[in-house]
Amino acid sequence: MRQTTFISKEELQSEQAIAEAIAKENEGLDLKYVVETFGCQMNVRDSETIKGELNEMGYTETFDKSDADLILYNTCCVRDHAEKRLMGNIGALKELKEQKPGLIIGICGCMMQQEGMAKKLLKRFSHVSLIFGTNVLHRLPELLEAVRNGERVILTDRSFDAIAEDLPQLRDNPRSAFVNIMYGCDNYCSYCIVPYVRGRERSRAPKDIRNEIVSLCKSGITEITLLGQNVNSYGNDGSTGMTFSELLHCVADVPGLKRLRFMSSHPKDLSEDVMQAIATLPNVCHHVHLPVQSGNDEILKRMNRRYTREAYLSIVKRLRELVPDIEFTTDIIVGFPGETEEAFSDTLSLVDSVGFAAAFTFAYSPRAGTVAARMEEQIPEPVKKRRLRELNELQARKTVENNQTYIGHVGEVLIEGFDERADVTMLYGKYSNFKMVYFPGNPALLNQYVTVRVTGINKNSLMGEMIDA
Ligand code: SAH
Ligand code: SF4
Ligand code: F3S
Repeated sequence: MRQTTFISKEELQSEQAIAEAIAKENEGLDLKYVVETFGCQMNVRDSETIKGELNEMGYTETFDKSDADLILYNTCCVRDHAEKRLMGNIGALKELKEQKPGLIIGICGCMMQQEGMAKKLLKRFSHVSLIFGTNVLHRLPELLEAVRNGERVILTDRSFDAIAEDLPQLRDNPRSAFVNIMYGCDNYCSYCIVPYVRGRERSRAPKDIRNEIVSLCKSGITEITLLGQNVNSYGNDGSTGMTFSELLHCVADVPGLKRLRFMSSHPKDLSEDVMQAIATLPNVCHHVHLPVQSGNDEILKRMNRRYTREAYLSIVKRLRELVPDIEFTTDIIVGFPGETEEAFSDTLSLVDSVGFAAAFTFAYSPRAGTVAARMEEQIPEPVKKRRLRELNELQARKTVENNQTYIGHVGEVLIEGFDERADVTMLYGKYSNFKMVYFPGNPALLNQYVTVRVTGINKNSLMGEMIDA
């Protein structure tokens, strides 16, 4: 059994004291920050914490960089182009810094955890003065204090894997929230950099998760998405005394919680108990994001995914037996080293037979330090591009097929937003199973649940009409 370590109350209090001191100094100065977030929901959630901390220190959010006193990039490094893009973004701030010498420019997130990256960036960009990694968010007050005193600061620590609870947060979505249940990843899929930059897998305590959900639901939030790189292995290290399906039962009855979602699910750990929980708990949504990555056994093995095509298909089949209206979404990588045309066609045939509601598809991108980056038989870029196009064309057809089965469907939709069109206001939102529908209605209904009947389909979504309000 693994012991999870938590950041001590004393340490958190001392950071809090620094934050309060900074807030005092900032009084009346109207200082503003921009936090720009790249990557997945983990980073989105981390940015909410960072913004909460900055608010406590007397800064307020702006979306206009020219108006900002602090600009922070929360980075991702899961694929290659992110790095080039970041370099461009940071380079472009040089002028702004010259006009406004007091401007603090910082970089955080997964990319900063890559070996040597933080030092390289600090050296290359003299206008950057703050760099920190994913495991030290609770130390932001101390870091910012040093930067405000004229230092240039780096804090990235790849061994530092403790959990900090009760950090401030700024959430701007009033209906829906992400809640981390675990951090890090131990799976070491051979293509993936996440375990190297996010550290060892560690699970939060059930009571901390439940308390967070209780307070979110009290504030009016009705939809919670539990987050982890592999939620199905929650508690597998024995540290929490609870499995993922038990956790679902433990939080599902929180008052006010209408929809409970989770992501991502790793097929190797999706147990019968979890499937039963989806089938029986009334507010667990009928949608599973189940990344398959490839439809070919040899490639799955080389990816170190630890399931076969057949095992994947049998999970899909079993879940459809238990939950007939369930929808699946997935992630797929094409052009993994050694992927032959035949292996690629296995991916196409899997996509054809499962019928995903949507697929997030990627060309394999070698990440330094991972096993797959060292494999021979790397696939040429044009081949990857062509396979990606073929796969996307197939999925586009499957999406339309899937959408067509919804004509006449009636169900509850949580309204997420609206588009003002020339002649009509279109509201949009999702059914429990993640299908998106557009329908005419009054924007005052934003964040509410309404019943919608599907009357037609659009390229990627459903069209409908409200049958109550
Ligand atoms: N933990 C999640 C995935 C997180 S990364 C899971 O295992 O399901 C999100 C997606 O990015 C992955 O599912 C994969 O499809 C893609 N990805 C990760 N590393 C990649 C790489 N080196 N090249 C291309 N795509 C990659
Ligand atoms: Fe990466 Fe695999 Fe972990 Fe997902 S499960 S984060 S793909 S190593
Ligand atoms: Fe990117 Fe880090 Fe997420 S590398 S995909 S932001 S865990």
